[in-house]
Amino acid sequence: MESLTQFESRKKDHMRLALDPQVQTGGHGLDKIELIHEALPEINFKDVDLSTSFQKIKLSSPIFISSMTAGHESGENFNQALATLSSQRKILMGVGSQRRQLGDPSARLEWETLRKKAPDALLMGNLGLAQLIQTPTQAVKDLLESLQAVGLFIHLNPLQEALQPEGTPQFAGGLKKIEEICNAVTIPVVIKEVGCGFSEYTLKRLQGTGVYGVDVSGYGGTHWGRIEGLRAPQDSVQAQAALTFSHWGTSTLQSMLNAQLAHVNYQVWASGGVRNGLEAAKLLSMGAGMVGLALPWLSAFKLNESDPGSELEKLADRLDYELKIALFCTGCKNIEEIQRKKVWKWRQELYPKT
Ligand code: FNR
Repeated sequence: MESLTQFESRKKDHMRLALDPQVQTGGHGLDKIELIHEALPEINFKDVDLSTSFQKIKLSSPIFISSMTAGHESGENFNQALATLSSQRKILMGVGSQRRQLGDPSARLEWETLRKKAPDALLMGNLGLAQLIQTPTQAVKDLLESLQAVGLFIHLNPLQEALQPEGTPQFAGGLKKIEEICNAVTIPVVIKEVGCGFSEYTLKRLQGTGVYGVDVSGYGGTHWGRIEGLRAPQDSVQAQAALTFSHWGTSTLQSMLNAQLAHVNYQVWASGGVRNGLEAAKLLSMGAGMVGLALPWLSAFKLNESDPGSELEKLADRLDYELKIALFCTGCKNIEEIQRKKVWKWRQELYPKT
């Protein structure tokens, strides 16, 4: 089993390498669609309302902080800054994988401290399915309790586990385990990828398991195959295989289309390469319930690590402002309207064609 020092070093590698431009794929596909401009919106900009809800929790925006890091010192500062933002703005925040806590009860302290400092933060727990499969359900409940989580993300990351030197690429029995967890916990469970998206078939298989939602986390932003490739020793088999798989994944746009084809009865959330409020608006117009970003929060944090609050606020302000402009210019006064009205179309040349 991986030692604590190895675990911390792996997490630090992840945070450092996520910022390397080589691990960003681009190609989420959202440039293939456009929102339909409404020149006569019949609303005042100040009345555009971004508020939404998650179960009974009122949120100021459908934009959330995708799960990132945990289990090492600089991760703690990052999580603290994000939790403060979540609490002040009333936005959802996914914490990073709580895997370490499964084997090290002292890791519980990290979450208890985070909670004490940000009692109102809206935190979603996080565990990988590969770890969950080997974990008794009671341990998962304890984990969520230490965080006072409002929901649980279960991440699916087969490509990353296969390329990671310390990986656990064991997913047999996964669907059954998801069902078991959904039945055992009282908070909503959202299944997510980590940047490789979902097929129509997988989305259909998750139907009936009791999941509250699926965050497609598609290809187009941070790529975990590339990150593990950079971590592996140069010229190693893993580093070479990571290059072979550096474009592996289903784009965020295709994953959303797959969700439409699958006609699922749970919520579909979207993430994977989202970098501004206009892209968030496109995904909401395609039916996303919520839209997540990971890397942009980390980049903002790194701009001023000793006082990250104002940079994180600035990013959140920009995202909300851009989202509001997109709603205004499509004639939608709230989130429910942009989700319901058909305001997106395929980008094409002038029409009708002559
Ligand atoms: C992640 N991501 C992630 N996901 C997860 O479910 N558990 C985790 O512990 C982590 N850890 C993590 C660390 C860092 C530094 C980053 C940047 C990301 C994946 C993340 O939630 C998201 O699915 C992908 O990064 C795609 O989104 P972006 O980065 O393209 O916006």
